[in-house]
Amino acid sequence: MRLKDCHSFSDFRELARRRLPSPIFNYIDGAADDESTYDRNTKSFEDCDLVPSVLRGVENIDMSVEILGQKLEMPIYCSPTALQRVFHHDGENAVAAAADKYGTLFGVSSLGTVSLSEVRKQYSGPQCYQFYFHKDRELNQVMLENAKNAKVDVMMLTVDTITGGNRERDLKTGFSIPFKLSLSGITQFAIKPMWALNYLTHKKFSLPQLDDHVDMSDGPISIGRYFTEMLDPCLNWDDVAKMVEYWDGQFCLKGVMSVEDAKKAVDIGCTGIVISNHGGRQLDGSRSPFDQLSEIVDAVGDDIDVIMDSGIQRGTHVLKALSMGAKAVGGGRFYLFALAAAGQHGVERALELMKSEIERDMRLMGVSSVSELNRENLRFR
Ligand SMILES: Cc1cc2nc3c(=O)[nH]c(=O)nc-3n(C[C@H](O)[C@H](O)[C@H](O)COP(=O)(O)O)c2cc1C
Repeated sequence: MRLKDCHSFSDFRELARRRLPSPIFNYIDGAADDESTYDRNTKSFEDCDLVPSVLRGVENIDMSVEILGQKLEMPIYCSPTALQRVFHHDGENAVAAAADKYGTLFGVSSLGTVSLSEVRKQYSGPQCYQFYFHKDRELNQVMLENAKNAKVDVMMLTVDTITGGNRERDLKTGFSIPFKLSLSGITQFAIKPMWALNYLTHKKFSLPQLDDHVDMSDGPISIGRYFTEMLDPCLNWDDVAKMVEYWDGQFCLKGVMSVEDAKKAVDIGCTGIVISNHGGRQLDGSRSPFDQLSEIVDAVGDDIDVIMDSGIQRGTHVLKALSMGAKAVGGGRFYLFALAAAGQHGVERALELMKSEIERDMRLMGVSSVSELNRENLRFR
């Protein structure tokens, strides 16, 4: 199987599975506890159907959207995700380059393996910085200043990780950071020699956003332990209000799920929220963002940019979310499997396929601009 054989999310997933050592594949593919929320995220789109209109003379398609003060050429962006150089040696650089080419938003994670200022300097497209709020307040201040100095367009604070989700696949495989080729996993890595060779012959693993401040000399820890031990469980609305004031620009909360919290985000001056359950990786049993979207849009849709992520695999999922009132959507695994499968070319292909799906689906729906999508073209079963 090669990149040209990938036509859908499941093809990219399969190619990534074949190319990655299993602990790494399972880190991307896995979620919390029984993974029921992960499962529901995509299934929630099947509870409603699109109702197309015909004979509308749809010639030119404009799928661009504006969120958080940024114009995106397509209504889906690459959600910030951790550790990308572990998945492919070009990591964040590959994703940033592909997102830049397709004119969409990309975000460096606090757990990114490339420095945000390096990425900002290289690509001019819209970029956000995904912030994890650490117990170490000095580190938080440095991270905020670095992001300001780097001139990232949007601050995106993740608020659903004050403790680690129970990622049982990682517990079984021993996946940890800093990422090391452990002796116990060595057979797995030996079976995927191309990945191992690339990993060992490219720039050494590092976490440039954190390296100067976080002491990991006690040895590798699981991602769950990183959240639990290093992130601040006391983070509250007052802390975030201060951050919003200091940032003084586009500020988005990622991981809001309730109407009440969405209203609070408006009250403290956030300009956007991402309704998200972290791709099912945190609270298993929590609601899917698509199921929760309408009540949040109804409550705050006129006051703040309502965005959603989790479970998006198809162009039709994007159209359903936009019809329900989301201004744009984010996706994680849809580009991560493609990154693992084939680096920048892979991510470009994932974006290209998504773009042509959205374009074809809009044509079939009889709309030439995303602003024409609304709840009238959706029916629940
Ligand atoms: C491997 C992986 C790593 C992730 N790392 C982060 C991260 O560092 N920060 C963050 O806010 N969200 C992170 N996420 C969550 C994504 O930003 C996004 O919310 C999620 O992937 C959306 O679900 P989807 O993968 O079904 O599209 C990660 C997700 C995955 C799959």
